[in-house]
Amino acid sequence: MRKSRKIIAGILAGVMMLALAGCGAKQEANAPAGEKNAGKKITVGFSQVGAESEWRTANTESIKSAMKEAGIDLKFSDAQQKQENQIKAIRSFIQQKVDVIAFSPVVETGWDAVLQEAKAAKIPVILTDRAVKLSSGNPEEYYVTFMGSDFVEEGRRAANWLVGFMKKDTEPVNIVELQGTVGSAPAIDRKTGFEEVLKNHANYKIIKSQTGDFTRAKGKEVMEAFLKSAKAENQKIDVLYAHNDDMAIGAIQAIEEAGLKPGKDIIIVSIDGVKGAFEAMIAGKLNATIECSPLLGPQLVEAVKALTEGKTLEKRILTQEGVFPAEVAAKELPNRKY
Ligand code: AHR
Repeated sequence: MRKSRKIIAGILAGVMMLALAGCGAKQEANAPAGEKNAGKKITVGFSQVGAESEWRTANTESIKSAMKEAGIDLKFSDAQQKQENQIKAIRSFIQQKVDVIAFSPVVETGWDAVLQEAKAAKIPVILTDRAVKLSSGNPEEYYVTFMGSDFVEEGRRAANWLVGFMKKDTEPVNIVELQGTVGSAPAIDRKTGFEEVLKNHANYKIIKSQTGDFTRAKGKEVMEAFLKSAKAENQKIDVLYAHNDDMAIGAIQAIEEAGLKPGKDIIIVSIDGVKGAFEAMIAGKLNATIECSPLLGPQLVEAVKALTEGKTLEKRILTQEGVFPAEVAAKELPNRKY
């Protein structure tokens, strides 16, 4: 049932890409995929956030392999989670006159100037994975499409799963939250979606919330601090909500080192659906993961090709995703692609 739903979702995503509103020049009949009408190779500049998580590594791999397969010349730059590095990379792509610029913005704000520069240079910009906000004006004027997940919905799914799992209507449920990178779209939106659902469940309280920057090391470090301060304040931690699986995996280590059982003494829900999370669920240490697919490479290639053929893209291309509780982990692990 789940498998067929996923197949249907995949078909819908494909149909959506084909539904790109067509206008303008057609590609020459026999031109290889990675070539423009004039026979010149398409060049794409991609600025990646970094390599902070299993998710990010899979995302980079998906983009690199899809571009290679399509014969597109990819100029790839890893920003090491620093906005200034992304801005530098985008400026260098503009100088090199690439055909398309794509990037996954590490944080939401601070892009006004560089996006204006790309627009002035008439280079189309594609946002992958994360959105931007401008200090003034409509960001949609500066990018041709934004492809990726609905992070607010992921936060809602995590909270809905939790409420259904805990089955506690009145008893207090104390939650600690490991947030993603400060100022990033997934950190802001996953918090918003989660809290939106919990508003209707007054007994669920977020008692501590701090950033773990989407990494295992910080997830562990912050969870250690949460456990220590909860002990000092005589508070019980019932639940950990982590904005990604890597931070949850780091936190699991901290919980074990504190002599507690992750997944039992502290219920854990996180986001991404990476293989490491499935392994943790099979080991009984993680209770659920909410899927966020990093496999954006093929969609990005489709979008780049459509642009070089003079087509207009849908402004928002949404990724279809699911929820995986521990009970299905062993069955699903062999199907996981990241
Ligand atoms: O933007 C997507 C988020 O970034 C993923 O959830 C996280 O693992 C990554 O680093």
